[in-house]
Amino acid sequence: MYKNIVILTGAGISVESGIAAFRGGGGLWGDYKVDDVATLNGYRKNPALVHDFYNKRRRELKDVSPNPAHIALAELEKSYSGRVTVITQNVDDLHERAGTKNLLHMHGELLSIRCEDCGDRFKSDEEFSIESICPACGKKGVLRPDIVWFGEVPMHLEKIEPLLLSADLFISIGTSGNVYPAAGFVRIARNNARTVEINLEASLTADLFHEHIIGNAGAVVVEYVQKLLKGGV
Ligand code: APR
Repeated sequence: MYKNIVILTGAGISVESGIAAFRGGGGLWGDYKVDDVATLNGYRKNPALVHDFYNKRRRELKDVSPNPAHIALAELEKSYSGRVTVITQNVDDLHERAGTKNLLHMHGELLSIRCEDCGDRFKSDEEFSIESICPACGKKGVLRPDIVWFGEVPMHLEKIEPLLLSADLFISIGTSGNVYPAAGFVRIARNNARTVEINLEASLTADLFHEHIIGNAGAVVVEYVQKLLKGGV
């Protein structure tokens, strides 16, 4: 039995819920330019376009639900004897809706909004624009998506490093290994943890993992969690 299971998830875990990943066929970065919609510079240049991009993705959340992989991870946290922590690069709320509690959104959340002026953060599934007014300070045009854009510092790193250093099982699910620091977590964890990659194909950091399970997360995560709960891995 493991004492401290740390799970990193990427866009691949939400694909079977109907949320497009970023890279590969049909990925978000095929339809939009990262610089235009996922950088501070892009936001400064055209905040209306960025608000539209995130309003669309926020609206999309209303039409999707957690898939069996999200549900299996919530079940693992609930029933497993050791500690289970999910670190997600995803900004959707599917882990929460599946019941995961011990969760760190290192790239922010679609349903969280931040005021650039007073720093207030609040949850909302509404649409925002350059006309939106901050409920805390009353200023207009200062609200931005509470999302970590390229070039910005990911959230919760101060919690993540100790988690990786104390993990005895590290599972990476549905991430391509393109973006750091998340792609480097396996390098930290592999000194003290068994490392397992679950993906449709080998990620860019595949050779750093002790074990690979190839398949759709919705099927293989369920199987793997069942084995863990039976003490079988
Ligand atoms: N089951 C398992 N894995 C899948 C599935 C599936 N059904 N569908 C896709 N995948 C895998 C792909 O093989 C790929 O390796 O999910 C991964 C998705 O990779 P990306 O689209 O690059 O997403 P991710 O790794 O999460 O991107 C990291 O980059 O764009 C930024 O901030 C954004 O958080 C994101 C970060």
